[in-house]
Amino acid sequence: MRKIFTFLAAILFATNIFLSPIASAATLTFEQINPQVEGYVASLPTAKKAYKSSQRPILIQGAMTAEVGNLINALKNPVVYWHMHYLFVAGTYKNYPVVVSRTGVGMENAAASTVLAIEKFNPIAVINQGTAGGYLPNLHVNDIVIGDSSINYSAYKEEYSPAGEYDITKQTLRGISAYDKDNKESTEFRRFSDFKPDERLLQAAKTTAALNKNWNVTPGTIGSADSWNNAIDHIAFLRDNYGVACEEMETNAVAQMCHTADIPFIGIRIISDNAVTGEDFELASALPCQDFVLLVTEKLIRDIKAKRF
Ligand code: 5AD
Repeated sequence: MRKIFTFLAAILFATNIFLSPIASAATLTFEQINPQVEGYVASLPTAKKAYKSSQRPILIQGAMTAEVGNLINALKNPVVYWHMHYLFVAGTYKNYPVVVSRTGVGMENAAASTVLAIEKFNPIAVINQGTAGGYLPNLHVNDIVIGDSSINYSAYKEEYSPAGEYDITKQTLRGISAYDKDNKESTEFRRFSDFKPDERLLQAAKTTAALNKNWNVTPGTIGSADSWNNAIDHIAFLRDNYGVACEEMETNAVAQMCHTADIPFIGIRIISDNAVTGEDFELASALPCQDFVLLVTEKLIRDIKAKRF
């Protein structure tokens, strides 16, 4: 019995299963993860022709190499596409076409690579996932936030204030501009103060969370901008006024593009750091996030095959 257990433990260790989803104890660096993933990508065949698939693929995005490595690894028959230096790896997962996209860090990269992906791969749905900084005291490293809403918290208008009287709370969210398919009067984009995820994707993520107790999962608002906040007063303002649960640099930009393109979207984020609780950035959190997202993807594939999506 003991021998069997030791043997199983050795296999689990050899297959890196200890890294995820029970990665909390592990500390990983970019130097440990990136060369492995980059090496694997370099070993894959590069596409010679434009992507073609009879079924529309699911697009899963991550900003950094460490945020897509597990996803790329999970693909069968992976083929690499480079579009404007953005990396896409197309393959299948659970016998359904999936494209993994490394968007690069930040709102502009996220938006640009999303538009490229929409044009080149025609995805049926887009899942943006990766690390985020927690704003709530009960959100700890490796907890997951399913984005039931997202905002660009940098899209605000300030009240006038004279020199020496700056107060960050004197602002309102203007929102960002996107196509409004319901407006019959004008083709001009209008401002959206937030974007909601596709309801079916939200349900798929919630169902996955309910069935898998390995992760602490809560729905919440994801706040995006090209910034990394650490001032507790600023964080408290964004949390208390805009309801932000966690901050990162991509989700709302992708939501904006998917809204304009009318493509179902959801953002799923794992807490990698939390200034409120004093938890420093932990890159290893990127791994269990991808494992959770693969389970959501599996559920989505079942829904697609059952024509529920
Ligand atoms: N603030 C901003 N971005 C963060 N990220 C992780 N934690 C934070 C945080 N506290 C993510 C962003 C970006 C990269 C720098 O890490 O989404 O892709």
